[in-house]
Amino acid sequence: MTQILNIGIIGSGGIAAAHARAYLDMNDVKIAGVADVIPGKAEEFIKRLGLEGAQAFDDHKDLLELDLDGVSICTPNVAHHRTSVDSLLADKHVLVEKPLAVTLDQGVEMVQVAKQQQKILTVGFQPRYDPNMQAVKDIVRSGELGNVYYAQTGGGRRRGMPGGTFVNKGLAGAGAMADIGCYSLDLVLNALGYPKPLTVSAFTSNHFGTNSIYHPEADKFEVEDFGVAMIRLEGGKVLNFKISWAMHMDSLGPTLFLGTDGGLKLTPAGSGPWSGVWDGGIGSISMYHDINNHHVDTTIPVQTHTIDIFKAKVRDFVVAIKEGKPAPIPGEEILINQAIIDGILRSSEIGKEVDIHIPVI
Ligand SMILES: NC(=O)c1ccc[n+]([C@@H]2O[C@H](COP(=O)([O-])OP(=O)(O)OC[C@H]3O[C@@H](n4cnc5c(N)ncnc54)[C@H](O)[C@@H]3O)[C@@H](O)[C@H]2O)c1
Repeated sequence: MTQILNIGIIGSGGIAAAHARAYLDMNDVKIAGVADVIPGKAEEFIKRLGLEGAQAFDDHKDLLELDLDGVSICTPNVAHHRTSVDSLLADKHVLVEKPLAVTLDQGVEMVQVAKQQQKILTVGFQPRYDPNMQAVKDIVRSGELGNVYYAQTGGGRRRGMPGGTFVNKGLAGAGAMADIGCYSLDLVLNALGYPKPLTVSAFTSNHFGTNSIYHPEADKFEVEDFGVAMIRLEGGKVLNFKISWAMHMDSLGPTLFLGTDGGLKLTPAGSGPWSGVWDGGIGSISMYHDINNHHVDTTIPVQTHTIDIFKAKVRDFVVAIKEGKPAPIPGEEILINQAIIDGILRSSEIGKEVDIHIPVI
């Protein structure tokens, strides 16, 4: 007989619907409950998405009283920490949306509690399921590039600033970095094997978000819309990271890996004002190397595919629970991503390079 998993959803806004639809497509999952702090919102969500038998709650702690195997955490960033820790302490496996948390300290506690409870804490970076992202990781890890000593990543939208909870510092923690920058960081750091960051020197600004010509909620805009950073990584590597929600430019440049034996250049897929970032996939992959002192430029074909990467990430969480596997995108790894964002915010605030310390967990 098929084992049916009971799943809960915490936060019932935009992305929660994508989680619910992914679970609804599975014949071995039941959405047992939904919680949202806005009274009535979870109930309306359950009705709208046709989640038969699901119970609605205003407080995630009441949801956690149910006999659940796992929860999807779909709250604004600031609530990822509290809801994840409470879920793990209630013996539920956790799929938390990106970014992991708002501060490094919060992320550390989440990872510590997951370890102590022996529960999955996986983070929602669906581009990991894109075969082209997997090809990049495969190429970088193959050794063909030699020792990769420099990477640059990030990207930018000409115009693409969200509003609401995404621009409220208390709820989002950070702006473009937490929203789209974390995808660029994951692309490069995952390919490099998540080397530890040592120091960061950064600058952030919000000239567009706070200008009513460019943003309808300029008076409420509290986060960065642009960030640039130089991050020293262990193993004699350096990462140049830049991200922008809005700019007078078409691109902030490709993602590059420079190695002692070869280089790799990637451009993002997509077009239009919201393109130029890595949650939309890879547009081209080129490799540069020498053969007998002749420069060789190779185009690596980008695969067209029909994988629903969002559903693939949710499915992988379910499979990991059912088969007792480790977290598909471990919180422990994404802590490094969080530490870099945390370091960028600290460095830009004081205008100096800062050290990054990630405690051993
Ligand atoms: N992976 C992706 O493609 C993707 C896309 C968009 C957003 N996200 C992430 O998903 C998260 C949510 O984004 P969204 O666009 O759905 O936001 P949203 O504002 O539409 O929805 C968040 C919901 O959470 C509720 N909420 C807030 N605090 C809560 C708490 N303590 N307990 C229960 N409910 C609570 C809010 O009332 C709201 O209904 C963010 O972290 C964001 O970064 C991921």
